Amino acid sequence: MADLKVLITRAEIAKRVSELGADITRDFAGQSVIFVGVLKGAAIFLSDLARQVKLDSTFDFIGVSSYGNRPSPHQELKSGWDSTGEVRLTKDVDQSMKDKNVIVVEDILDTGLTLTYLKKLLMARQPRTLKIAALLDKPSRRKLPLEGDYVGFKIPDEFVVGYGLDYAERYRNLADICVVPRE
Ligand code: IMP
Ligand code: MG
Repeated sequence: MADLKVLITRAEIAKRVSELGADITRDFAGQSVIFVGVLKGAAIFLSDLARQVKLDSTFDFIGVSSYGNRPSPHQELKSGWDSTGEVRLTKDVDQSMKDKNVIVVEDILDTGLTLTYLKKLLMARQPRTLKIAALLDKPSRRKLPLEGDYVGFKIPDEFVVGYGLDYAERYRNLADICVVPRE
């Protein structure tokens, strides 16, 4: 894929992630937190964010898959892209969430389907609190009303890769967040 264009530099990401870490440290002062990373896109964000949070913490990971993949980054899924369960659990968390402070860590909040599904699933485990940390947010794409509690950057409706985000599993290892150009 030709000509990826940098949208957010590694330096901008590092600065913002450290601000989010400071916010979480302040909001949960004196308490413990569980970071629940959504595989695979959030792995890099989680590892950087967690190191900026100066609290007792544990990690966990959860896997989800939306039925079907986008045929291209700029095309919608062909069918059934509605609010009634196009998301499926592929890996559950390993530890109990009951009475814990849970922070779900996600790469990007797009239509809101994935995080709405995960929020409902995890709320049923009766955590003490459940917060959402999303590195990126595309508010113009939202299909279900949902806001992140800790959001790195609001971005326009572009398909982005890097810093954990993929297109067909590639580009996750780019240090900057880049836009995939429209054909
Ligand atoms: P949602 O359920 O529509 O909010 O989608 C969230 C998921 O879609 C994210 O976890 C990403 O895996 C994927 N996604 C949405 N937008 C992008 C993008 O611009 N680049 C890469 N993945 C994206
Ligand atoms: Mg993805």
